[in-house]
Amino acid sequence: MHEAVRELEPRDAAACDAIVAGLPEWFGNEQGIRDCALAVRSHAGLVAIDETGVTGFLTWTHDRERGVAEITWMAVRADSRRHGLGRSLLGALIDRLHEEQVDRLDVKTLSERATYPPYAETRGFYLANGFEPVAELDIWDEDNPAVLLSRSL
Ligand SMILES: CC(C)(COP(=O)(O)OP(=O)(O)OC[C@H]1O[C@@H](n2cnc3c(N)ncnc32)[C@H](O)[C@@H]1OP(=O)(O)O)[C@@H](O)C(=O)NCCC(=O)NCCS
Repeated sequence: MHEAVRELEPRDAAACDAIVAGLPEWFGNEQGIRDCALAVRSHAGLVAIDETGVTGFLTWTHDRERGVAEITWMAVRADSRRHGLGRSLLGALIDRLHEEQVDRLDVKTLSERATYPPYAETRGFYLANGFEPVAELDIWDEDNPAVLLSRSL
């Protein structure tokens, strides 16, 4: 398989929606699905692609005053998980952020307070890629406690 990472383009949005639809254990909340669909149509982003099409994506926002970027959404197609695509997408984002003189990259995800096994895998990915937990947050509903993970760049 020949993998590549490039900018997210408007024509990729439907493929990103399909990746999300294929990950119901992570994307079960209707509002979250709508917010992600909006993000892949409005935020800056990157996609991983191969001969089969889009295999993963991430979107991010950038607070220029604080010099901090945040991954807003990220997903790898169910049949392509754990093949290094998440790491490639993140590496490409970090290269980009270095060029833009961004100092720090944040991501919010489900906290371990929720004891929901699929998100232990998600946190495992971020912790293996240099992120550290910096704060427990109650910004979503009471069933969905958040953790802020962050890494310097
Ligand atoms: C989280 C996600 C984006 C990671 O992408 P991925 O392509 O599967 O991850 P990679 O193969 O690049 O993994 C890189 C490293 O992260 C760690 N990692 C990845 N998946 C892991 C898991 N399930 N459990 C523990 N560690 C994991 C490992 O150290 C891995 O390296 P290794 O395979 O050499 O051991 C992807 O699995 C996914 O879409 N998950 C479901 C949706 C989701 O959680 N989105 C993020 C919401 S904030």
